[in-house]
Amino acid sequence: MRHIFEQGRDPKAPTLVLFHGTGGTEHDLLPLAGIISPESSVLGLRGNVLENGMQRFFRRLSEGVFDEDDLIARTKEVGDFLDQAAGQYDFDRENAVAVGYSNGANIACSLLFHYPKVLRGAILHHPMVPRRGIELPDMTAMPIFIGAGSNDPICSTKETEELGQLLREAGASVSVHWEHYGHQLTPSEAQAASVWFREQGWL
Ligand code: MLT
Repeated sequence: MRHIFEQGRDPKAPTLVLFHGTGGTEHDLLPLAGIISPESSVLGLRGNVLENGMQRFFRRLSEGVFDEDDLIARTKEVGDFLDQAAGQYDFDRENAVAVGYSNGANIACSLLFHYPKVLRGAILHHPMVPRRGIELPDMTAMPIFIGAGSNDPICSTKETEELGQLLREAGASVSVHWEHYGHQLTPSEAQAASVWFREQGWL
């Protein structure tokens, strides 16, 4: 996968794995990573799917309707890539925290839905429920931050609440931060993610 890796100053800080939104690149969330944990190593990924020239992490059939087979295959591809990158860049595979926005939050969430202990935690900006009707892996005490919009036209409040509930039922410790700016990732939402990150005692 195309990616960028930047070595952080604090080897104990979690490595942040960045997943951009539709039409983004591996560079998009670098400023956000700097707000959340400036001392962390950063691995920014670029989605392998092209939709009308826009990069994504998996195919969709229409807005909000995912191609489930592709989602499953791409989720495995990302998981395998994380294993490989941890060897290549010598970061602690068990100390990786995802930061994703929109389509990127959805693939990061799909990783959590399919593989146990694939991440130490996750910051999901405007995620949706990636799949329904499957049994989730044990996520006991896994910290997850969800940034959501009470007027998000792509992800309804009902879907955000459903996602929070599914993750909690799997044992995760979920914090939902609500804003009222639609699907946007605002500076105040980034700030809330940064405060939450500090509260986890990872640094
Ligand atoms: C998706 O397709 O992952 C969601 O609809 C979010 C987006 O628009 O990328």
